[in-house]
Amino acid sequence: MKVLVIGRTGQIATELLERLPRAGHDAVGLEPPELDITDPASVAAAMAAHAPDAVINAAAYTAVDKAEDDEATAFAVNATGPRLLGEATAARRIPIIHYSTDYVFAGTKDAPYAEDDATGPTGAYGRSKLAGEVALHAAHPRTVTLRTAWVCSPHGHNFLKTMLRLAETREEVAVVADQHGAPTFADDLADAAIALLPRMSHGPFGVFHLSGAPHTTWHGFAAAIFEAAGRRGLKVPRLKPIATADYPTRATRPPNSRLDCARIAAAHGIGAADWRAGLERALDRLLPR
Ligand SMILES: NC(=O)c1ccc[n+]([C@@H]2O[C@H](COP(=O)([O-])OP(=O)(O)OC[C@H]3O[C@@H](n4cnc5c(N)ncnc54)[C@H](OP(=O)(O)O)[C@@H]3O)[C@@H](O)[C@H]2O)c1
Repeated sequence: MKVLVIGRTGQIATELLERLPRAGHDAVGLEPPELDITDPASVAAAMAAHAPDAVINAAAYTAVDKAEDDEATAFAVNATGPRLLGEATAARRIPIIHYSTDYVFAGTKDAPYAEDDATGPTGAYGRSKLAGEVALHAAHPRTVTLRTAWVCSPHGHNFLKTMLRLAETREEVAVVADQHGAPTFADDLADAAIALLPRMSHGPFGVFHLSGAPHTTWHGFAAAIFEAAGRRGLKVPRLKPIATADYPTRATRPPNSRLDCARIAAAHGIGAADWRAGLERALDRLLPR
């Protein structure tokens, strides 16, 4: 298939562009200035120029704190963008796979979130991503949205890379121990979309949760990062557990980012991947032995 990957240098897009050709697909990655998904003319031109068989939208405005002060841009990229992509793919009768986030929920449930749980974003980023899901599925029924959380990879900005950077300069690192979720490696999310491609002719379509496993806290993830990095010879700092209240951020962080991934396992045979294996793969690239 000829697959148009929206976002080119993003974490998930980078993995898609590496892995799609290995799976026998022809992949084209676009981001600004070649393609701006907030601009109808730019979307139309990209579709006409590349004539894809499927689209994977891995583009987003992901700066959660910045979004609080720039909600208009967050909505343009995360809500208008998916709507325009939905309209364009529906008009061409081609399927689209999209990524969304646990930030569509308030994060206050005391169990993993299922797809049908009530949404209730507490910040601008979550509101914009929820609006994007709704607009995209309204524009095009042949859509799969993968809601995920805690995305990490050897590329771009993420928690894993921040911990490795802090290890270089700090004797002690304090990490929140009262936010629960599961790291999700971008290569696993790319593989999930690639596994979905042949299934996009028949579905089932809709919103599916897909994160890593098992559940942990940011502190638990940091401990695993430092343990694995230490094995590879990195000097690692002491790790101190702190509470969310001790680490104020512009946007509220959900205390519970755990996602129940049973629906996609039953519908498409795609399971939550063990993030500890993803961590080793990422460190093979970031800290080769
Ligand atoms: N990161 C996480 O922890 C996390 C958690 C849950 C869900 N997600 C979701 O997973 C998906 C991918 O996240 P990610 O971490 O891979 O994202 P990322 O690394 O922040 O990359 C986002 C990409 O989108 C592109 N982009 C921004 N505005 C655009 C526009 N107007 N038109 C076209 N492309 C545009 C960016 O290009 P520029 O670099 O040129 O701006 C960049 O290539 C998103 O849907 C996100 O909401 C992420």
